[in-house]
Amino acid sequence: MLEKIKTAAHYLSKQIGFKPEIGLVLGTGLNSIAEMLEDPIKISYQDIPGWKASTAPSHQGLLLAGKLSNKNIIILQGRLHFYEGYSMQEITFPIRVLKELGIDKLIVTNAAGSLNEKMVPGNIVMLNDHINWMGNNPLIGENNDELGSRFPSMHQPYDTKYIATAHKIAKLNNFTLQDGVYLALSGPSLETKAECKMLAKMGADLVGMSTVPEVIVAVHSNIKVIGISIVTNLSNIFHSKPHTQEEIRANAAKAKSDLEILIIELLKKI
Ligand code: HPA
Repeated sequence: MLEKIKTAAHYLSKQIGFKPEIGLVLGTGLNSIAEMLEDPIKISYQDIPGWKASTAPSHQGLLLAGKLSNKNIIILQGRLHFYEGYSMQEITFPIRVLKELGIDKLIVTNAAGSLNEKMVPGNIVMLNDHINWMGNNPLIGENNDELGSRFPSMHQPYDTKYIATAHKIAKLNNFTLQDGVYLALSGPSLETKAECKMLAKMGADLVGMSTVPEVIVAVHSNIKVIGISIVTNLSNIFHSKPHTQEEIRANAAKAKSDLEILIIELLKKI
């Protein structure tokens, strides 16, 4: 795996020409953030050696490199999901490559369903913990000590100082920001009502199909992590009508301007 990571990083560093310090993964419906990047270098996932193509709807499969808030960053516009049929190692390969390029801070965003009545569509939630309910783990298999330790601690996967910084930004800019626990399932079928009830009882505020594998690999790689969810729908506990992909994208768009402020200001301060 190390060889593959180095090959992809070598390919990217030749194209990018600068050392990036922060990575930003954009979730469903959150692509517009990428438009803020100054003079981005755009690289299609298909062109990066060893990197899988994105097949999920509204996930563009583009890596963008450039400056935002005067920081050298890489944006992953569209992520890879376990439900696309890729392995846990394949979906987290991009995080390994970002680390090899020099990134030591990662902002992961996602669209999530709410299991908590206080978190409603359009709200932004800082992840303060997660539950890995995907039935798998990207670190299964032989551990390469050069990449990280065999049993990385998950006692605080999301950086508490950065969560506090995010709250200061929200207060200053007058938007609501909550903290919550994100639970990841494999998907792609959405949760039943009974499953939603169970997940809420387990202590989850939000549910989705991503983020957790990336965060596990980031922690394994000694990368500091910020996790941000946009609530795009209430889960099935709260209503009997199914939610649609259109609804999810429309609600993600509602949070757009606050999320843009949050990300721009966080980039300045981390
Ligand atoms: N469940 C799972 N994944 C999701 C949801 C949901 O309700 N909303 C957005 N992603």
